Amino acid sequence: MKKKIFSACFAAAVSFAPSLSAAPIEIKFSHVVADDTPKGQMALKFKELAEERLPGKVEVKVYPNSQLFTDNKVLEAMLLGDVQMAAPSLSKFESYTPRLQIYDLPFLFRDMEAVERFQQGPVGQGMLTSMADKGLFGLGYLHNGLKQLSASEPLRVPSDAAGKKFRIQASDVLHAQFEAIDAVALKKPFSEVFTLLQTRAIDGQENTWSNIYSQNFYEVQPYITESNHGVIDYMVVTSTDFWDGLDDEVRLELKKSLDEALVYGNNLAEKIAERDKQNIIDSKRSKVIELSEEERQQWVDAMKPVWNSFADDIGHDALEAAELANSNQ
Ligand code: SIN
Repeated sequence: MKKKIFSACFAAAVSFAPSLSAAPIEIKFSHVVADDTPKGQMALKFKELAEERLPGKVEVKVYPNSQLFTDNKVLEAMLLGDVQMAAPSLSKFESYTPRLQIYDLPFLFRDMEAVERFQQGPVGQGMLTSMADKGLFGLGYLHNGLKQLSASEPLRVPSDAAGKKFRIQASDVLHAQFEAIDAVALKKPFSEVFTLLQTRAIDGQENTWSNIYSQNFYEVQPYITESNHGVIDYMVVTSTDFWDGLDDEVRLELKKSLDEALVYGNNLAEKIAERDKQNIIDSKRSKVIELSEEERQQWVDAMKPVWNSFADDIGHDALEAAELANSNQ
């Protein structure tokens, strides 16, 4: 009798087993920009590659345009296990590590090639694991591009910005940058920027060509100064709990898929920036202001002193590494 009961239980367990093991791991990938941006395209490529490599084992759900979480909530949500992957801009990690503030220092990196060299070097790679004790694990970097200043009035020299209100990402460095030109900086989520500009609650903001175009900021900002004064790049992050909890094969294949998706996104970033700058010019909704050497130097002189207040927290080793990256090493 006992034997019969055991056999029946065993059979039931076996018949349930396939459906249990068949449930795919759900990976929610939340971000705040449009699909047709370097981040949007990279996330979709990651989904395609991960699901191709791990058929039936993972399901990647990409949520663009702050549909799931805004940028000021996503990291908290990740630590609670409500989202598994995200790629916040590097300015959004300030409360987790001061090291990443380096990316917000105005006029630090000469161009995107220097940013790439810095990120792939030992200091940049070390930053990926610098938040592990807080439960966040960096999987890689993704480029967007250099920042431009958009406004309701033309901005040619820093004094044109004095007294004006600018939306910034949640970063003390960016706050200090606008203070240095006597402007007022307001930390607001990305999802609110268009409305703030449209209603004239603020006068301007700083962003990349692809964000200015894909979020339609150019429709409500008659002037864009091509200042290239800073960078918006991303760190793809997951929680250490989620990542460590995966089995080795799944983790390895996910990492391979992400690495490929990052190469794909990084190759697109410059093309998308050029395309969207041209789209804005062609739209004739916004005038793109090119600065003379002398005008640009005024912005550098006004903003660069901000470095002094943050250098100790960021670490002088990181600043030296950025300098090396600028000099092509
Ligand atoms: C992003 O590119 O993810 C957002 C940038 C911003 O908040 O301005």
